[in-house]
Amino acid sequence: MNAILEMRGITKTFPGVRALDNVNLVVREGEIHALVGENGAGKSTLMKVLSGVYPYGSYTGEIHFQGQERRFRGIADSESAGIIIIHQELALVPLLSITENIFLGNEPARYGIIDWDAATERTRALLRKVGLRESPATLVGDLGVGKQQLVEIAKALSKEVRLLILDEPTASLNESDSEALLSLLLEFKAHGIASILISHKLNEVSRVADSVTVLRDGMTVETLDCRAEPVSEDHVIRRMVGRELADRYPRRQPRVGEVLFEVRDWTAHHPLDAERVVVKGVNMAVRRGEVVGIAGLMGAGRTEFAMSVFGRSYGRRISGQAFIEGREVDLGTVPRAIGNGLAYVTEDRKHLGLILNEDVVHNVTLANLDGVASRSVIDEMRELEVANDYRRRLNIRCSDVSQTTLNLSGGNQQKVVLSKWLFAEPRVLFLDEPTRGIDVGAKYEIYTIINQLAAAGKAVVVISSEMPELLGICDRIYVMSEGRFVAEMPAAEATQEKIMRAIMKGEEKVP
Ligand SMILES: Nc1ncnc2c1ncn2[C@@H]1O[C@H](COP(=O)(O)OP(=O)(O)OP(=O)(O)O)[C@@H](O)[C@H]1O
Ligand SMILES: [Mg+2]
Repeated sequence: MNAILEMRGITKTFPGVRALDNVNLVVREGEIHALVGENGAGKSTLMKVLSGVYPYGSYTGEIHFQGQERRFRGIADSESAGIIIIHQELALVPLLSITENIFLGNEPARYGIIDWDAATERTRALLRKVGLRESPATLVGDLGVGKQQLVEIAKALSKEVRLLILDEPTASLNESDSEALLSLLLEFKAHGIASILISHKLNEVSRVADSVTVLRDGMTVETLDCRAEPVSEDHVIRRMVGRELADRYPRRQPRVGEVLFEVRDWTAHHPLDAERVVVKGVNMAVRRGEVVGIAGLMGAGRTEFAMSVFGRSYGRRISGQAFIEGREVDLGTVPRAIGNGLAYVTEDRKHLGLILNEDVVHNVTLANLDGVASRSVIDEMRELEVANDYRRRLNIRCSDVSQTTLNLSGGNQQKVVLSKWLFAEPRVLFLDEPTRGIDVGAKYEIYTIINQLAAAGKAVVVISSEMPELLGICDRIYVMSEGRFVAEMPAAEATQEKIMRAIMKGEEKVP
């Protein structure tokens, strides 16, 4: 089959970093081509070169698309050639509606007047295509990340697509939404649209990809043809990390003590619609040394629960009691929550977790400035030591710790967020999708850190949409559905089916 895209000898450097070193990529007409590699391997950078985000002249090498050499000067250029990219960090405007976001910059107009009725109609059709049941007038900011992703795809479909690039589209989606998205890709393929899929979820890759290109340290390791013979995940992992990886989850001997953290009858209402109850009478207890999971579908209220507990950072009309070591505590503001030893690692690193235009050092020490101060003056040498220590422990890839976090790869940003909260030395740690967008090797490192925290007597709560992950690292699992905790089980007795059944039953109860 003919190639639709050939990238030849692409080299791209940033000050102090060679992000891409003579990379070759060939995508055939109408295929799904997966691009995999560790955090910082250069995947997003390669796609930014392709789509003109990094314009011609800022890299070396050649791009051939549909048989012609292309020199894109910007994203509008690549779009008019039919290359549409959906970035890893979503780029929608939260205060605008779905329709406005989809047609931002290319509104259908008649006689120079924007035809909003037509736009709304088209939006409705596009939303149907991506399986999103929301009104076109819904504000994007009121949607969860998963649904925002679908809006991005609907937006891509509103343009003339030849090659669709998805940078970790399913990172924030639960299993059924991911499944729907992958079917969507297969459908596009049936219509002759080629796509490039970047993903850390290798099971998805092996399910849909026709070819897989592995990048390591800015270089092409190999391209595998999945149609010739099935590609094993272990083989891909070996090529990605350059070594053998024996286990996905580190072993641990849990030593669980008495209850350290407890909430009783926790209820929270929607911030905009005070009548809507988002978290309903939740009771939760976590013991010292215990890793507890909260399973549930997107929209079950898990993040809302954790955030409402963590200094009321979500919701209105919050009620309920919180206890640490049996003593009732006031967690009413974020500083008070932190002061009582709580930490919350967010799923949305771009908005809540990082100060992107600050360097790695200041992001790491942000939540515990006392830890790097002597007599209330910041000790910069100590700060640097701390940051370097975490960089080593979590294997954060940066040219050095004074690098701006904005320039780190997505997975490495996530590691910085995690470092920040580890350094705050919390007693109770909420981790919300802690391994979202993290490569397999680095996941293992994060699980190891979770184990170390538990071994040090902390109470750890993990929210994750990846059920195998919860089953692999937790001692006990709560299941949340429609704002309620509907089941609780020791992880040893839990299975994906049991969790799913609990979710379904929970949904039935609610009219
Ligand atoms: N604007 C920039 N300035 C400096 N360095 C950068 C910039 N953008 C990317 N880098 C560096 O280039 C390398 C490749 O980053 P890239 O974002 O392409 O990785 P990735 O493979 O997409 O990783 P992830 O899986 O974590 O998203 C990293 O070392 C990153 O720090
Ligand atoms: Mg990336």
